[in-house]
Amino acid sequence: MAFEKVLTRNVGNPAVLRTRGYRDTGGYDALSKALRMAPEEVIEEVKRSGLRGRGGAGFPCGMKWSFVPRQSPQPKYIVCNADESEPGTFKDRLLMEFDPHQLLEGCVIAGWAVGANTTYIYIRGEYTKAASVLEEAVRDAYASGILGDSVLGTGFRHDIHVHRGAGAYICGEETGLLESLEGRLGQPRVKPPFPAVVGAFGCPTVINNVETLCCVPHIVQRGADWFKGIGPDERNTGPKLYAVSGHVERPGTYEHPIGITFQELLDGCGGMYQGRALKAVIPGGASAPMLGPEDREIPLDFDRLARAGSMLGSAAVIVMDETTCVVRATLRLARFFAHESCGQCTPCREGTNWMAKILARIESGKGTEADLDLLASVVPNVGGISLCALGDASQGPVKSMIAKFGEEIRDNLRHGRYPLPRRRIFELGAVA
Ligand SMILES: Cc1cc2nc3c(=O)[nH]c(=O)nc-3n(C[C@H](O)[C@H](O)[C@H](O)COP(=O)(O)O)c2cc1C
Ligand code: SF4
Repeated sequence: MAFEKVLTRNVGNPAVLRTRGYRDTGGYDALSKALRMAPEEVIEEVKRSGLRGRGGAGFPCGMKWSFVPRQSPQPKYIVCNADESEPGTFKDRLLMEFDPHQLLEGCVIAGWAVGANTTYIYIRGEYTKAASVLEEAVRDAYASGILGDSVLGTGFRHDIHVHRGAGAYICGEETGLLESLEGRLGQPRVKPPFPAVVGAFGCPTVINNVETLCCVPHIVQRGADWFKGIGPDERNTGPKLYAVSGHVERPGTYEHPIGITFQELLDGCGGMYQGRALKAVIPGGASAPMLGPEDREIPLDFDRLARAGSMLGSAAVIVMDETTCVVRATLRLARFFAHESCGQCTPCREGTNWMAKILARIESGKGTEADLDLLASVVPNVGGISLCALGDASQGPVKSMIAKFGEEIRDNLRHGRYPLPRRRIFELGAVA
């Protein structure tokens, strides 16, 4: 049976950019329903749905909401993480540009559930179009009585502010984001305390990814059981957006039930570019360890990918074909992490640069097998002992490159084959 699109069902219908058009499709019915439920009931429904965060860590959403101390006299906040700076990731942009009210609805429901009267949508600086679309939607929602002093006439107040970031990957890490939101340098905080207890402006705060919040109205409207019915098991539920880039015929953002296999996803993208052979795939954004052609049938969900030694992460699927130099591809990622490290922790600050330097030496043809050994000895010292997950994330691509392609790289080094020929990724004009 064909999968009925949920999160992207309104893509291509410009009417939904306005509150009225969105309401014509049943939009804001879930908000109306939620406001007739007790906040605890909303949290319970989200918990039962099995919804796990779509921003990278896969933390259970309802559980996170339940950590907010309801009796606290402090204001509470919802922060929507729309930073989306992980290389290869472009799923949240689609949701914001094409269906902004779906996100606003999710934010207000989250606010009702945890007792928050304010949402901040922290959006990456480069997303100028998405930010304008959201700002316009927010204005329209105020004018239509969806936002403001009395949401849908219920007396519940909720305000939404769109806050533009300035283009730093580390401001996607939830506590780096909070520092930036509060006007300081975006450097992660020590955890605990976690934001649900001490978050924005020292107050209890729920931080959720755009896609996570977009799932919420559907869970409220159609029920936890319906949501749980999508996906392979109770721990991996719901619809999922996969952002596919690289050597495929039709790159783009695709919605599927969570847990389809990589091969199924690839088939839906028209297969490998020009029918070339698959060399490697990064299944969850730049932080996710690479997989090889032998892993085609692995379901793309949280648990199966973890078992395979990788992760779902932001579900940015980067496909590399046989013409790819894996050392060069890994170097690009290593340079990214070195550039984006905020510098607070020595292992991350120094280690990311070390990895990039050694990879550059190998890629350029000046490396030896001893460099590969040196690289392998640096990797375990970079993550696990730092303040945030960037340090850990930076290891993933390098470690997996050595595990999957170590022998091939050694062989290339022995035979003096680096630098491998640079090929144009796509023949110009071949891809629409
Ligand atoms: C370096 C770094 C960058 C991150 N960037 C993002 C991001 O752009 N968007 C996002 O939603 N989560 C990002 N995260 C994860 C967030 O810290 C947080 O787990 C997430 O926003 C929680 O929302 P969720 O539970 O709905 O996934 C990042 C984490 C790290 C360590
Ligand atoms: S792990 Fe890296 S990015 Fe994260 S706080 Fe430490 S230095 Fe900054």
